[in-house]
Amino acid sequence: MQTDLLKQAADIYGTPLYVYDLPFIIKRITSLKDLFFDLDFRIAYAMKANFNRDLLKTLNNFGLMIDVVSYGEYLHARSIGFAPDRIIVNGNCKKVDQLKTYVNNGVFSINLDSYEELLRLEKIIDSQTNISIRVNPDVDAKTHPHISTGLKENKFGVDFDTAAAMIRRIEKNKYLKLIGFHCHIGSQITEIQPYLEAITSLIDFIEKTGIEIEILNLGGGWGIDYGDGKFLDLNEYRNKILPLLKKTMKTVIFELGRWITAPAGYLISKVEYVKKTRYKIFVVVDTGMTHLIRPALYGAKHKIIPLYPSNDRKMIVADIVGPACESSDVLRKEYKLPEPAEGELITICDVGAYGFAMASEYNLIPKPIEVIWDGEKFIKSS
Ligand code: LLP
Repeated sequence: MQTDLLKQAADIYGTPLYVYDLPFIIKRITSLKDLFFDLDFRIAYAMKANFNRDLLKTLNNFGLMIDVVSYGEYLHARSIGFAPDRIIVNGNCKKVDQLKTYVNNGVFSINLDSYEELLRLEKIIDSQTNISIRVNPDVDAKTHPHISTGLKENKFGVDFDTAAAMIRRIEKNKYLKLIGFHCHIGSQITEIQPYLEAITSLIDFIEKTGIEIEILNLGGGWGIDYGDGKFLDLNEYRNKILPLLKKTMKTVIFELGRWITAPAGYLISKVEYVKKTRYKIFVVVDTGMTHLIRPALYGAKHKIIPLYPSNDRKMIVADIVGPACESSDVLRKEYKLPEPAEGELITICDVGAYGFAMASEYNLIPKPIEVIWDGEKFIKSS
């Protein structure tokens, strides 16, 4: 997004401020339709990445499905207008009452995370319900350990033996319809190999059991370029997974969060002052870990761009730090940037996913305002 527009937004709404570029998100979705033109696929947006109402309304209008991982997300999706038959229910802790609601409302699929969850569902089921089994293929996604989900030591999904036992139980139940399998191995994955391993083992399993299913939900996790040049090459992904999928001829679901919204998000912040100590320079800004926890939690490095004239400035190397009372409240360590003056603006990039969604009010620092750029004007989110 043009820096002039970002500055304009900060002029109108103040800082700290999240800005989302809606036309970019729409382009992203359309580009997938072009890339996978010969595949029967659907996109389920992973709401956990960004649950902004206006953004979700647009995705709903575009006919996307939605992945929810909690009852709160389910209610949010319903309040925005997502029809139950476009809602996929994930998560490893579905309470009995919540399961009842999903059954009564006829969601697209309840994705079972465990054998125990199947037993839970059997006890309450009294009408036809679509389910899928989340398998854990024990594949190393080669991403940050906190966002890896497909290893046997991770809490998610079931191994193939357990999946086989679940299939046998499901077949005996007149209300349960196994429509597919689900496999999400992690997030910010930049290599193809883990996907190939996971998909191959899933398809081998399906073929071995001889079970007829309609849906292969391949999860999300597509890695984007945060500035280090590493990202999932989608052409390669397409070329390598398509031959595997063609064998099965099923409807594929891509359950994407980060890839759709992350690069569309900016967090604009004001430089309060530059603190110079004998050891270090700190650029103190009015946003930090309470608005964007990824650097503190995962050591994530987001690009930070000055929104002030930089040609004539002296370059400095500084820690860009926020206002929270935590030493981990550092947005970038030893970052090279033109020396800012008090009151000047910076923007943190690629924060449209897992940015505001993970914000807290720790230290009673208020959350930022969110605005959407719709291509013509800014719309403030309620
Ligand atoms: N499906 C399931 C079942 C998931 O658990 C997730 C993400 C997704 C889809 C979407 O993954 P994506 O396409 O966004 O990678 N807070 C972390 C990321 C946690 C991801 C959790 N699950 C971060 O800031 O990197």
